[in-house]
Amino acid sequence: MPGIAIVGAQWGDEGKGKIVDLLAERAAMVVRFQGGNNAGHTIVRDGEKFAFHLIPSGILYSGKLCVIGNGVVIDPKVLTDEIEGLKRRGIDISGLKVSANAHVIMPYHVKLDHAGEAKLGKLEIGTTKRGIGPCYADKALRLGIRVQDLLDPKILRKKIMAAMEPKRELLRPFAKDRDLDLHAMTEECLTYGHRLEPHIADTARLCWDALDREETVLFEGAQAAMLDLDHGTYPFVTSSNPIAGAACVGAGVGPASIGEVWGVAKAYATRVGAGPFPSEMLGADGEPDEVAKQVAEAGAEFGTTTGRPRRCGWLDAVGLRYAARLNGMTSLAITKLDVLSGIDPLRIATSYRHPEGARFDEFPYHQSILHTAEAVYEELPGFEGDITRARSVAELPRAARDYVDAIAEYSGVDVRLVGVGPSRDQVIWTGAEPELRAA
Ligand code: GDP
Ligand code: IMO
Ligand code: MG
Repeated sequence: MPGIAIVGAQWGDEGKGKIVDLLAERAAMVVRFQGGNNAGHTIVRDGEKFAFHLIPSGILYSGKLCVIGNGVVIDPKVLTDEIEGLKRRGIDISGLKVSANAHVIMPYHVKLDHAGEAKLGKLEIGTTKRGIGPCYADKALRLGIRVQDLLDPKILRKKIMAAMEPKRELLRPFAKDRDLDLHAMTEECLTYGHRLEPHIADTARLCWDALDREETVLFEGAQAAMLDLDHGTYPFVTSSNPIAGAACVGAGVGPASIGEVWGVAKAYATRVGAGPFPSEMLGADGEPDEVAKQVAEAGAEFGTTTGRPRRCGWLDAVGLRYAARLNGMTSLAITKLDVLSGIDPLRIATSYRHPEGARFDEFPYHQSILHTAEAVYEELPGFEGDITRARSVAELPRAARDYVDAIAEYSGVDVRLVGVGPSRDQVIWTGAEPELRAA
């Protein structure tokens, strides 16, 4: 049984964590392959809420092998805090493994992320200010600090010096900042290295071994297709590749190891931070309209990581089709259908229109088109009532079923799963459940 990649099909926060948690019960291991603690993946188990930023969303199953792959960027303080938080809640984290090759987010990366956004002013990207971009930049510049360096006092200090040298000008405003003191930084990193050491491993090999035993490996994406560094709404993107192809690089496996790609999409759309969002629900004044407010409230649309309100919009089938192709999606999981109850009519963006009249059925590659594109909608009848207790398609109102069918039709991908609430059990399988293989 080859691996399954689970990826965001929109602008992030689709509910990837919930879907990974659901499938992880029957899989052998879960691997995060990109991103860092810009991600926030929420799981609700028996009414108890967990928010993960770095730890894979399979950790709630005792002893489950959960890998932070080489493609992830790790803030060691965030990771150790997350580990301690889970231990305090009685969660067994013995299955957690961290790639020795993953890059480390250093205090100067966080400062540079803040400074970079401040400098952009009104043109800011709206990053999570977690140091993600500067850390991936150092990785590409070959100035990165890797997890394995945290175990090596001699090498670590030299590498930090080499990484800071070309940033001297940019870091001048922080000259007196104790966080950036070379000695303090080195000592702190070594302490984190010591604490993380029991978890540090050759994680690619762990994946190969599980795949050789024909066990199911889940590749957990963070962020989403529209935030992809190459294919998203550049420059309003993250600094890694959240699409399924990146799972190979970020975990260290070959393409044939990924047999299925599950895209996760909300029944509507949200975006945090700046950048084009053609199906955004806005009134004539450019502010969120009444439906947007209703969705934001019913869907609790506030970021898991930064607490920022998420911008809300209608489901964008143009973007979803694009995401389906980019990822080679084999299945869709639609989450948060319950949130749309009581909204009538429902709308799906089926094409874009340029103010000068041109129509786009496919996602436009040109930024100036994307920035001015207006969504063209199909309207569908809404549904009412509480659907959070529905556990089969037959229990859904007719209009809700039709809406899900329309998403499948417009995206060209089968909907395998529908979410009707935040809890692990609040899902509807549209057909047979997948056969996975645990260890
Ligand atoms: P991720 O980053 O893709 O893992 O998604 P987040 O965890 O950031 O955001 C998704 C939010 O929606 C979380 O608060 C989930 O608990 C919640 N959620 C997931 N699926 C559903 C669903 O089907 N219905 C409702 N109402 N909430 C959901
Ligand atoms: P999950 O995994 C939603 C957005 C930020 C910003 C842009 C760049 O929970 O879906 P960065 O800090 O990565 O340099 O910010 O990307 N962003 C996310 N939006 N969900 C996320 O993760 C995100 N991670 C980054 O808001 O617009
Ligand atoms: Mg999230």
